[in-house]
Amino acid sequence: ISLKEYNTFGIDAKAKFFCEINSIEGLKEILAIKDYPDFFVLGGGSNMLITRDLENLVLYINLKGIDIIWENSDEVCIKVNAGENWHQMVLWTLDQNYGGLENLSLIPGNTGTAPIQNIGAYGVELKDTFVSCDALEIATQKLKTFTKEECQFGYRDSYFKNEGLGKYIITSVNFKLSKRNHNLHVGYGAIVSELQNNGITDPSIRDVSNAVIAIRKSKLPDPKELGNGGSFFKNPVISKQEFDKFTKIYPDAPFYKVSEKEFKIPAGWLIEQCGFKGKRFGDAGVHKHQALVLVNYGNASGKEIIDLAEKIIESVLERFGIRITPEVNIIK
Ligand code: EPU
Repeated sequence: ISLKEYNTFGIDAKAKFFCEINSIEGLKEILAIKDYPDFFVLGGGSNMLITRDLENLVLYINLKGIDIIWENSDEVCIKVNAGENWHQMVLWTLDQNYGGLENLSLIPGNTGTAPIQNIGAYGVELKDTFVSCDALEIATQKLKTFTKEECQFGYRDSYFKNEGLGKYIITSVNFKLSKRNHNLHVGYGAIVSELQNNGITDPSIRDVSNAVIAIRKSKLPDPKELGNGGSFFKNPVISKQEFDKFTKIYPDAPFYKVSEKEFKIPAGWLIEQCGFKGKRFGDAGVHKHQALVLVNYGNASGKEIIDLAEKIIESVLERFGIRITPEVNIIK
C-alpha cells in the first residue's frame, strides 16, 4: 500500500506488508512471528522522512483510549494509549481543565511517539509532565515500564533514540497534570504578544493553548495543505568559546542560553541568512514563514528532500562553520 496518507511529509513510498495494531495482545502475537526480517513502527508519521519503499513489515500503532490512573483535588495522572492523536488528546485535557500540555497544542503526530524525541515548544517539553511510559520489548514481547529517569530525556532526545533504538514499541504514556493553580509558561516572546494583542491579562490554560495555536498556524505549514515534518533540523548547540566568536561577527543573531557553557542558535535564522527561506527546488522547498521547515509541494520524493537538506547543511557549514543536523527521523 502507499504510505502517502500515513506520513505528514506526504511522501508516496510503498509498504510491502502493513498491519494495523489495535491491541497490545495483537501486537505481542505479531512480534512473536519470527519470519519477518524486521519491523517498521509507524505512529503519527509526523517526524519522519521516508526515502525508499519499505520491504519490512510496517506496524501501524493505533492503540486508543485515555484512562485516569489516580487523582486528588490538585492533580491527576492520566494514561494515554499510543495511537491517540497528540493534539486531540491535548484538547481533551483542556476540556477537563487539566493543565500542563497547553503549550504543546497543535503539534502533529501521536502520543506514543512523542517521548522518543521529547517534543517541545514555547518553553515546555513533554518531560515536564511525563511520569512514565509502557513499552513492549520487541525481542521478548514483554511489557516494560520506563520511568522519567530511564527515558534519559534531552533536547529532542531520549533513550529510545539511543541505546533503546529499535528495541521497544511504546504502547502508552502517563502524564501528571494540574487540576487547579495551573503553572502557566507564558514567558515566550510570541505568546506574550499574542495574549497582549487579544487583550488577555489573566490567561487561562485555554487562552495559552489558543495563543500557541495562532502562533503555530501563522508560522508552520498545515501538513494537510503542504507536506512537512515540522522542524527539519535541530537548533545547533555551540560552546561558549564558539559562541563568543560567533556573536562578534553576528551581534544581531538570536540565541538561547542553555547553560554557562552552551548556547543554542536557531537553525531557522542560519538557514534564512544563507538565502534559502521560501526557495523552491522542484517539489521540495523551504517554508516561506519558517526556514527550519522543509516542505513537499506535492510529489517530491524523499531523495529530493534529502538533497535539499544536504545543500542547506553544506551552505550553513561554509558560511558559519556550524554543522546543523536533521531532527526528523530519516528512513534510509
Ligand atoms: N528565525 C529566523 N528565520 C526563520 C525562523 C526563525 O530568523 O526562518 C529566528 C526567529 O526570528 C527567532 C528564532 O529564530 O528569533 C526562533 O524562532 P522560533 O521561535 O520560530 O523557534 P525555533 O527555534 O525556530 C523551535 C522548535 C519548534 C518550536 C519553536 C517554538 C526546534 C528544532 N524547533 O523552533 O519546534 O515550535 O521553537 O518553541 O527546537 C518542531 O520540532 O517540529 C517544531 C516546530
